[in-house]
Amino acid sequence: MIELGVNIDHVATLRQARRGVVPDVIAAAKICELAGVHQITVHLRADRRHIQDADVYALKETLLVHMNLEMAAVPEVIRVAHDIKPYIVCLVPENREEVTTEGGLDVAGQVGKLTEVVQSMHEKGIKVSMFIDPEPGQIEAAAVIGADAVEFHTGAYANAAGDDADGELQRLWDCAEQLEKMNLYCHAGHGLTVRNLLPVARIPNLREVNIGHDIIARALFIGLDNAVKEIMGVLKEADNVS
Ligand code: PXP
Repeated sequence: MIELGVNIDHVATLRQARRGVVPDVIAAAKICELAGVHQITVHLRADRRHIQDADVYALKETLLVHMNLEMAAVPEVIRVAHDIKPYIVCLVPENREEVTTEGGLDVAGQVGKLTEVVQSMHEKGIKVSMFIDPEPGQIEAAAVIGADAVEFHTGAYANAAGDDADGELQRLWDCAEQLEKMNLYCHAGHGLTVRNLLPVARIPNLREVNIGHDIIARALFIGLDNAVKEIMGVLKEADNVS
């Protein structure tokens, strides 16, 4: 079955609204773990708007499942990653004004710098994923710099409707096929929900999805355990039909 990473950033967003201690991100991670997720995903942003360094260190101590650390390739966060040694880091673009990660990383435009970052992570035993838009040139660049995996930004698919959504889905399928030929693992994330996930989850070589906002939003009404299990139900459904 496709593995699920739950992004718990928005539990921290709510906590940071009062700069307090609740809701507790570790408790959220543990509920996800008990519900059967494969990994916990957190984005340590340079502006520290939600997840804090202390959260990442506490998660490293307490998680029984993998940690996926999303991060920009900036020195101060690279240092934290080297120290914590999560199972995998996902390199993402960051822009201070954005509400959320708006597009994929331009890997092709910074091959030299990113090759060094990937090498430094590998030296610490950390796997590396690249958060990119589904574009052939970016996939080739991810292979060139030695990434282990690519996470396709599914925001364009999630925001499209009708024929446009079908077109974006086809783009994801075509790019996933290209990845398979290049021996790169295929991950996907951003804007995925219990309603739009199934067609993406049917991509044959998709190995992992990372989902945050929809799970945390639904958790307010149906509980975190139920919200995680709903998504896992969709992943199981995709597994049954593929
Ligand atoms: N994957 C990556 C690399 C992301 O940056 C994000 C958003 O932080 C997600 C997955 C999760 O996106 P969403 O919160 O829309 O499910």
